[in-house]
Amino acid sequence: MADAKLVASNVCKIYNAGKKNAFKAIDNVNVEVCENEFVCMVGPSGCGKSTLLRMFAGLDFPTSGEITIDGEKIIGPGANRGMVFQTYTLFPWMTVEDNIKFGPKLKKMTKQEQQEITDKYLTAIGLEKFRNSRPKELSGGMKQRVAIARALANNPEVLLMDEPFGALDLFTKSQMQLMMRELWQRERTTIVFITHDIEEAVFLGTKVYVMSASPGQIREVIDIDLPYSRDLDLKDTPEFIKIRRHIHSLLH
Ligand SMILES: Nc1ncnc2c1ncn2[C@@H]1O[C@H](COP(=O)(O)OP(=O)(O)OP(=O)(O)O)[C@@H](O)[C@H]1O
Ligand SMILES: [Mg+2]
Repeated sequence: MADAKLVASNVCKIYNAGKKNAFKAIDNVNVEVCENEFVCMVGPSGCGKSTLLRMFAGLDFPTSGEITIDGEKIIGPGANRGMVFQTYTLFPWMTVEDNIKFGPKLKKMTKQEQQEITDKYLTAIGLEKFRNSRPKELSGGMKQRVAIARALANNPEVLLMDEPFGALDLFTKSQMQLMMRELWQRERTTIVFITHDIEEAVFLGTKVYVMSASPGQIREVIDIDLPYSRDLDLKDTPEFIKIRRHIHSLLH
């Protein structure tokens, strides 16, 4: 508990609390995210994944219970947390490079620092050649790469990701998973990654929270005891399949 960075304690979220249409979206959820961990949360549609992530981001608040970062109650969005959404949220009028540079610029870093950070993440996502392109000229997968680079360029302590690959085709999605895992291994940014894709959660995560619906609760927390360096072949190994099947059985 002592070294957990992001903690949800007994969190309940009731939408329209006290009204006729009150709806309990999250019930007594406990989550602990330690520094440098890649935590995946998997669960069916409507189990409250986005609700929980929005509360981590400080965009919404628990009806009861508490969410803390470094022991401090979360009272709103903050520069220590970055977010990547399922749909594309790039600034359409800015080039790829300027989208990534946006945060470093706001922080009033020197021109040289801004450029160094931007180049570092352009390389990390493999889009150096597209630095002067506009978002509308990019594929969905490329746009999400830029969104990830833009979030990381802000140097967040925790990166919150809500089904960032949900809209991508299967092939692009696996390539993005590979890139994401490699990025994390290099940077060790603390990540909370939400998905309804069991395979994705097991492939990416160091730990997987399995959620169930109506109301949203944590069914099980699974430490993913798979090799640290992962490639896509891992998905066909018996160890991987065993964990995937176990989560599947929890959800069905
Ligand atoms: N602003 C809101 N007002 C009322 N109910 C809401 C609101 N936002 C979400 N809900 C309800 O809360 C429940 C959880 O929603 P949430 O979006 O967190 O689910 P989710 O797990 O992210 O689903 P998906 O996988 O489809 O994105 C759903 O039943 C939804 O209808
Ligand atoms: Mg959602």
